[in-house]
Amino acid sequence: MPRGPVLVFDSGVGGLSMVGALCHHLPGVALAYACDNAMLPYGIREDDWLVARILAVCEAAVLASGASALVVACNTASTLALAALRARLRIPVVGTVPAIKPAARLSRSRHIGLLATRATVARPYTLGLIREFAADCRVLRVAADVLVNEAERLVAGEPPDRRVLRRALAPLRDDPQLDTVVLGCTHFPLLREALAEVSPPAWQWVDSGEAIARRTAQVVADPALRGGPGASFATAPDTRLARGLAAFGFASPKPLPVG
Ligand code: DGL
Repeated sequence: MPRGPVLVFDSGVGGLSMVGALCHHLPGVALAYACDNAMLPYGIREDDWLVARILAVCEAAVLASGASALVVACNTASTLALAALRARLRIPVVGTVPAIKPAARLSRSRHIGLLATRATVARPYTLGLIREFAADCRVLRVAADVLVNEAERLVAGEPPDRRVLRRALAPLRDDPQLDTVVLGCTHFPLLREALAEVSPPAWQWVDSGEAIARRTAQVVADPALRGGPGASFATAPDTRLARGLAAFGFASPKPLPVG
C-alpha cells in the first residue's frame, strides 16, 4: 500500500469536523484535505451528475495528494457514490453515513431526528439504515440544507445566524418525545454548540466522526506516513476557505483541476 497521507474529502468545510477525531485515533498521521467548493452545496444536485463529479474530483485529488486512503467525509456523497468510488480507486475508501445505528442504541424514547441534506434524508441507502438499525424507532427525517452555509460561515469566522438555526430545527419540535438527533451531514457537527443553544436541553446529538476515525485507523497502512494536517486542494479559489483550513492546520489550498 502507498505511504501517502490520508485524504479527507467533502464538498466544502464539512470534513474539517472529522479532523479532530482522525488526529485522535491516528496520532501524527499525515492528512490532506480536498473539497469541491466550486460545486457546493452537493445536497441540491442531481444524482447522476453528482456521481460523475465525485468520481472525477476524488480521482484528481488522490492523484494530486498521493493519498494512501480516502475518507469520504460527506454523507451526501457516501450514500450515493461509495460503491462507484471503491470500484474506481485503488486505495481503501472509508465512507460517512448517518449515525442511525448509534442513535438507536442511545435513544430511550425511541423517537429520533435525522438532520441532513435533502439528498441524504431521501436516499435509499439512508432508508435502508433506518430499516436495519432503527426499525423500532420513529425517525423524523428533516432536510436542513441551509445549515451547510451556516457552517461554511462559521469556519470563515462569522457567527451563525441563530434565526436560521432555529427555523431549520423547528420541524424536529413537532415530536415532543424526540430525545436524539443525528447530525447526518458533516457540516453540522461544526455547529453543534450553536444548535444546542437553540434546542431543548434534553436532545442528545450524535454524529459519525468518532466511528469513521476508528474505521480509518483500521484500514490505514502501518506505519502510516506522519506529519499531521498538510496539503489541501480546492476546485475554486476562495480566501475565506484558506483561512478556515489554516485554523485546522492545513496549508493554503492548491487548485484542483477537474476535467
Ligand atoms: N457535508 C456534506 C454532507 O455530509 C454535504 C454538504 C453539501 O450539501 O454540499 O452531506
